[in-house]
Amino acid sequence: MTTSTPTLRDDVDFAHTGPGTLAGRYFRRFWIPVARLDDVPPGRAKPIQLLNEKFTYYRGETGTPHLVGYYCAHRSTQMSTGWVEGDCIRCFYHGWKYDETGACIEQPAEADSFAAKIAIEGYPTRTYLGLVYAYLGEGEPPEFWRFPMMEQPGELVVKSWVRNSNYWNGLENANDQVHVAFVHSNSEFRAAGATREIPRIEAHETEYGILRKCTFSDGKIRLQHSLMPTASLVTVYEDGAGWMPHLSYRLPVDDESHLSLTVSLAQVEGAKAEEVRAKHKARAAAMEGLPPAQEIVDAVVRGELYLHDLQRPDIVNIQDAVALAAQPPIGERVNDRLGKSDVQIIVLRTIWAREMRALEAGEPLKTWTVPPDLVATNG
Ligand code: FES
Ligand SMILES: [Fe+2]
Repeated sequence: MTTSTPTLRDDVDFAHTGPGTLAGRYFRRFWIPVARLDDVPPGRAKPIQLLNEKFTYYRGETGTPHLVGYYCAHRSTQMSTGWVEGDCIRCFYHGWKYDETGACIEQPAEADSFAAKIAIEGYPTRTYLGLVYAYLGEGEPPEFWRFPMMEQPGELVVKSWVRNSNYWNGLENANDQVHVAFVHSNSEFRAAGATREIPRIEAHETEYGILRKCTFSDGKIRLQHSLMPTASLVTVYEDGAGWMPHLSYRLPVDDESHLSLTVSLAQVEGAKAEEVRAKHKARAAAMEGLPPAQEIVDAVVRGELYLHDLQRPDIVNIQDAVALAAQPPIGERVNDRLGKSDVQIIVLRTIWAREMRALEAGEPLKTWTVPPDLVATNG
């Protein structure tokens, strides 16, 4: 563990993630989730954007997810406006048809088809825990990580939301234990005891990223994990479901906004599972008609709403978004004054800076692996 406090502007740039940028190249060496499986139904397509790059996410007619380039190779219309046929996608404009690898297999208006010479990008995908993962980099993808802690019997709850800040702000927030006692003091976390005190905070680099350890005065220990490059494995509390293992990802959409994809596992079965499903339905119904979270966040930031008066089912999310809202959107954090309680963030920055420098210099990067028995505890 180091005590140096690299800023985001030393000589590395974590914030920009487009193709060709250092952080963008680093991200593209990992499997990353790109969407919820259910974001589109079987036989439909949708445009998505991640890492400053546009893609077409579609599901074959039997439901298998695929990810290909955004533009048709012919005259560059948007592939998601076309038709899904089997596991292929046909362009809306002049009917060129591509398979899931991006290879063009049909050109209806060409007497002498030159389809064999044409391809758009196609990416390997995997479905896991209700998310669609893709490998966006070059060469062979690395090992695909599984999380047995999330594969136990129960109800998977998959969520996604976008925040108007650089992904790095969200990633640091996920690695920040102190904020829980303040930001979430007026939330369901309070009843669960998660906000009761500021624990002693440690961070240790591991084979997968960072072991985040919090020790409370009653001797209880909270163990959480940062998984390179951008995931966290923690436990979260929800009324009805109790403490749940929770896997979350902060993913750049562009340099000024990021997508969170999260999966929680309510470890309940039978009648209890029914209850949890009913609670989620009631929660969704309670959200209907409410102004979007971003509207509330903006009103709080403008001083028109007082956050601590608010009660909404998504209050935890809004609380985090408010904390991040005033932070520099592109991650310029040269004025940050980090203390000992920021050790998890310091280790995060240090690892990223080291790997970025190695990537830039063409030196070997650390190979990250996740042990199958990784578990988080609530403390
Ligand atoms: S632009 Fe796609 S077939 Fe012409
Ligand atoms: Fe939070």
